[in-house]
Amino acid sequence: MTLSEVLRSDPIRAAAWSTSEQQLVISEILGLSLTEQVLQSDQTLSEAVIERLHQVAKRTQAGEPVAYILGVVDFDGLRLSVSPNVLIPRPDTEILVETASQLIEYNDLSTIHDLCTGSGAVGIALKTRHLNCHVTLSDLSTDAVQCAKANAQALGLPVDCLTADLFDGLGCYDLVTANPPYIAWDDPEIDSSVRLYEPAIALFSNAQGLELIRRIVSDGMNHLNPNGYLCLEHGHRQAHDVRAMAEESGWRSIQTHQDLAGRDRVTRMQKR
Ligand SMILES: C[S@@+](CC[C@H](N)C(=O)[O-])C[C@H]1O[C@@H](n2cnc3c(N)ncnc32)[C@H](O)[C@@H]1O
Repeated sequence: MTLSEVLRSDPIRAAAWSTSEQQLVISEILGLSLTEQVLQSDQTLSEAVIERLHQVAKRTQAGEPVAYILGVVDFDGLRLSVSPNVLIPRPDTEILVETASQLIEYNDLSTIHDLCTGSGAVGIALKTRHLNCHVTLSDLSTDAVQCAKANAQALGLPVDCLTADLFDGLGCYDLVTANPPYIAWDDPEIDSSVRLYEPAIALFSNAQGLELIRRIVSDGMNHLNPNGYLCLEHGHRQAHDVRAMAEESGWRSIQTHQDLAGRDRVTRMQKR
């Protein structure tokens, strides 16, 4: 069977991969770039390769995320390793990277810390875009810190990775980024596959999902250099609460940024 025939076969259709999932699967299993996937769609596949594609499809159909099956995900143009101990970085989080990146560029920021780093996605993407910046990463989960360290090493990026409960033991930076857990435990909108497969420590926070954000907003100014920025991802219905917390804690230049669907995603604030 050719690649295009296999992709039209029942087991693969049943997996209902998104375009990006299908591209990732083919890239990992066949080693083909996006262009090659189009140009070589009539290449004949070996039985072993077809079997591997069908296995991945079967596990996807049962609800397991493609990124965990393959152990990799694409984020901001980088291929990162992930394990079930870390959140799978989401395309929405690229808004956080983009917002932070613009702050770095326009304000000439040079020391950056990514809190709640998970696989290291945000901090590593920022280091890749701003090689002159000194970037550090931290997470409460030692598994996450190991994953972030391995991703940075694999890309040859010098970043320091620390285990820490939010800001405990950390210094001061020009910019702090964070995509903390912000989902309420009883959120009815959360996908069953997310609840089943992704680590609870990466998803949920008390107080309607806002506890960790509240701690970051209230302590953040103590860990920023003068005029430094804090840039936070949050749930699309949490922007109002996050801005209110920021005002209460005395931040200035509070601005919320939207994702491509126009939903509030990221709020940034500056140290007074
Ligand atoms: C939503 S995930 C984000 C991971 C990564 N930044 C991303 O965008 O893909 C949240 C991360 O916060 C970490 N975390 C949870 N509680 C924490 C705490 N008290 N201090 C530091 N990190 C924490 C989790 O281990 C998890 O890796």
